[in-house]
Amino acid sequence: MDYQKKGIPKQTGLFYGADYNPDQWQHAPEILERDIALMKEVGVTSASIGIFAWTALEPQEGRYQFEWLDRIMDRFAEEGMFVFLATPSGSKPIWLSEKYPEVRRLGIDGLRENSGRRHNHCLSSKVYREKTRAINTALAERYGQHPALALWHVGNEFSGECHCEHCRLAFQNWLKERYHTLDALNDAWWSAFWNHTYSDWGEIQTHDPSIDALQLDWMRFVNDQHVLFMLNEMEPLRELTPGIPCTTNFMGTHESTNYWQWAEHVDCIANDLYPLPDDRKDTWRNAIRADFIHTMMRGMSGGKPWMLMECSPSSVNWGGINQLKRPGVHRQEVLQAVANGASTVHYFQWRKGRGGFEKYHGAVVDHEGSNRSRVFQDCAAIGAELKSLAPLGEHDCPTAEVALLYDWESRWALKSSKGPKVLKEEGPFASDLYSETCFDHYEALTQNGLSVDVVSTKSDLSHYKVLVLPALYFVEDALASRIRAFVEKGGNVVGTYLTAYVDSSNRCHLGGFPGAGLREVFGIWNEELDNLHDETRVILEGEVQGVARDLAERIHLEGASTLAQAASEFYAGHPLVTHMDYGEGSACYIAARLEMPALCAFYQHLREKVGLERTVACDLPQGVVFRKRKSADGTLGFLFNYTRETKRIGLGEGKWFAFGEPETIYAGSLELAPYATLTLRL
Ligand code: GLA
Ligand code: ZN
Repeated sequence: MDYQKKGIPKQTGLFYGADYNPDQWQHAPEILERDIALMKEVGVTSASIGIFAWTALEPQEGRYQFEWLDRIMDRFAEEGMFVFLATPSGSKPIWLSEKYPEVRRLGIDGLRENSGRRHNHCLSSKVYREKTRAINTALAERYGQHPALALWHVGNEFSGECHCEHCRLAFQNWLKERYHTLDALNDAWWSAFWNHTYSDWGEIQTHDPSIDALQLDWMRFVNDQHVLFMLNEMEPLRELTPGIPCTTNFMGTHESTNYWQWAEHVDCIANDLYPLPDDRKDTWRNAIRADFIHTMMRGMSGGKPWMLMECSPSSVNWGGINQLKRPGVHRQEVLQAVANGASTVHYFQWRKGRGGFEKYHGAVVDHEGSNRSRVFQDCAAIGAELKSLAPLGEHDCPTAEVALLYDWESRWALKSSKGPKVLKEEGPFASDLYSETCFDHYEALTQNGLSVDVVSTKSDLSHYKVLVLPALYFVEDALASRIRAFVEKGGNVVGTYLTAYVDSSNRCHLGGFPGAGLREVFGIWNEELDNLHDETRVILEGEVQGVARDLAERIHLEGASTLAQAASEFYAGHPLVTHMDYGEGSACYIAARLEMPALCAFYQHLREKVGLERTVACDLPQGVVFRKRKSADGTLGFLFNYTRETKRIGLGEGKWFAFGEPETIYAGSLELAPYATLTLRL
């Protein structure tokens, strides 16, 4: 997993750079040469090159032209900079998609897309797989030994789906492997519903909203198919350049990609993140979502440093309103990733193109072209700061005591089940009920000063004190047994509404929720789910007070005790937050979507009961976060104010030392300006 172990020339610090498109500037060698000078000024160590350069590399079928790329690779090597060389599958040459229409996707409506756009190849097309292998092989043969080559950046943000005949056949074959017989499939899919019983594999469609199990399996299949596509691309690279790591850029909590699975196949974790701050609102919730995603990337890389492969140095161009980042916000975003284990910070994009969809997307170098822009200067200052943070390099953050499970399959199963409330939250991140529930819990834990590890259903849980399972909707027996064993051995588990409703085919568990045996572990029976209108609030009373919204379950105690109960609605008096002693540990159930003050109060209760250690001994105001990361010279601290207001922090007896400024010592209390970030030596 560690890309440096795989032979990247050892960096003394962090990688800092951008997506770079010299293929679009071949007619202007003076600009390319100027880029190198500007890169040196900003502190660039590396660039991702060639992501969308297929036509520049292969202008006609089988006729390669590499000379322009030779020059760029050589110039990078001369300057001691590295290239993350892309395979160009992210967008198809027009000659290719015109000659081989099968590489273009078919929509649910059965219509084939026109040539053009990007990230839209058929996942199953043999032709496309052959063509990508051929160009990848040519790239590996030409640049495998080049001193500038540090990493293979395979494709770009793989996603989406295709409903063509090849994909349909591949889906049917995938189902055959999973279920072996049609009887087993019909049973698993509950296909007697509305006459969906299949008598031939060939009858199965790629899309049918009335069969929830089909949708779930389709999402699994599409994910698998992307992974296979990526592995097909990686095969020649791994064969020809065994010392060069391969990765692809993830998209955080993107809905259709189960990155836990992808993570098993890449050499290092790389992620793209565009938080889109909006200064009309507090950026706090956005910061929480970004923090969650960074933490998950750290989890996917097995605790090792990971790469922030794309972020914007300024505004994006694809948001609703593309607001500039307010002063401090950009530095804060970068340091947030670094504080959470990123050892690479790359931008999209180095230089604004003159035309095309992204000509107004933020870039380090503007159309004006000099080093005088505000953004350029900002990036140069960050480059210098990252250089000073070089000791962080290969080091990571301390392991947390709390694990939070994020599971795409639960998310997919919930998404394809009609009934539970669908949230309409805004934000740049996919924000469905499943993910928002995860973010809620992450926020409340963070607000309690706790650090969290985001884990998968396969992660080792043995060293955690607390395991949080937000909306873990799909639970099969094996996972239920692991959860039970965790509690029996003294772990404390927190479950929420929607826990263990369905099995692996999205069929409801019989015998009462939570199913798969978890009813006994939580000591409750969840009889029914109340989906609340947006304006409805349910009042809570008891040890945890406040209100709940969106969803509330009417549950009964079966051994658990009540921490809070409903004080409104017809289920007033029914428990909403419960505690159960089980084995050596405990299991809490939160049956409604608590608003943040109540959820924070719950976690404060748990923190005190279990004796969880906070990242820092003092109380932090709302919107302020402290993170730690190990470094070659001890541990560093990062203090963030993610709000629009100045925050005062009382340090008690403690003293803090500014990183890189030995004479600056904080004692008593300190003020943190809006969006300010302090780096500290601990
Ligand atoms: C994605 C893509 C990039 C670019 C950026 C713009 O992350 O990977 O090629 O389009 O979005 O924000
Ligand atoms: Zn297809």
